[in-house]
Amino acid sequence: MHVADHPLITHKLTVLRDATTPSPTFRALAEELVTLLAYEATRNVRVEEVTVQTPVGEAKGLAISQPRPLVVPILRAGLGMLEGMVKLVPTAEVGFLGMVRNEETLQPDIYAERLPDDLSNRQCFVLDPMLATGGSLIAAINYLFDRGAVDVTCVCLIAAPEGLAAVEAATKGREVTIVVGAKDEKLNEVGYIVPGLGDAGDRLYGTV
Ligand code: PRP
Ligand code: URA
Repeated sequence: MHVADHPLITHKLTVLRDATTPSPTFRALAEELVTLLAYEATRNVRVEEVTVQTPVGEAKGLAISQPRPLVVPILRAGLGMLEGMVKLVPTAEVGFLGMVRNEETLQPDIYAERLPDDLSNRQCFVLDPMLATGGSLIAAINYLFDRGAVDVTCVCLIAAPEGLAAVEAATKGREVTIVVGAKDEKLNEVGYIVPGLGDAGDRLYGTV
């Protein structure tokens, strides 16, 4: 688990948290934040050595390995993070998982899926802005491992300590990394992160 506590990240998160920040600004900031977090999250992206011919000579370098990384935004709110991620890794493939948390039981439900059938040997990057109880992220991680993924990196904007502990306990022994912009204080009695930023999906796209 890595908290990317860079001052620029905290600055942008502060504006994002502000209840008066309107949706267009919220969307732009979420995208910018992901690009910054993605830099940290892709530190261990799989690469291979290559040689290119410069105008002056041969240069050894690195290229992203095959199979390409798979980016998986968790609908709905994770969609607001996609552009920021693919800006940094434009050759990544993108798959989708639609999940919604039952606001009474706090249990996640998968309502949509568009992913390659076989994720054998794939490195996956899951995007979900809020890690609250951790239920949604655990379900997403299990789903990807069940399909054959070998390592999963999750990029979240804000996490609750309770959710981080739950994800850690549920993924012990597996190759799972979590990169967050901030670790907040706690969850409240209805499963919202405190101080958090409210409902990320509603703030990005409006109430449905
Ligand atoms: C939010 C958020 C996460 C989930 C986190 O999604 O985007 O996916 O809740 O909560 P958890 O850690 O307790 O599972 P929500 O279910 O509200 O759906 P939405 O993205 O469509 O708004
Ligand atoms: N989902 C959100 O969007 N916000 C929270 O604080 C918790 C879950």
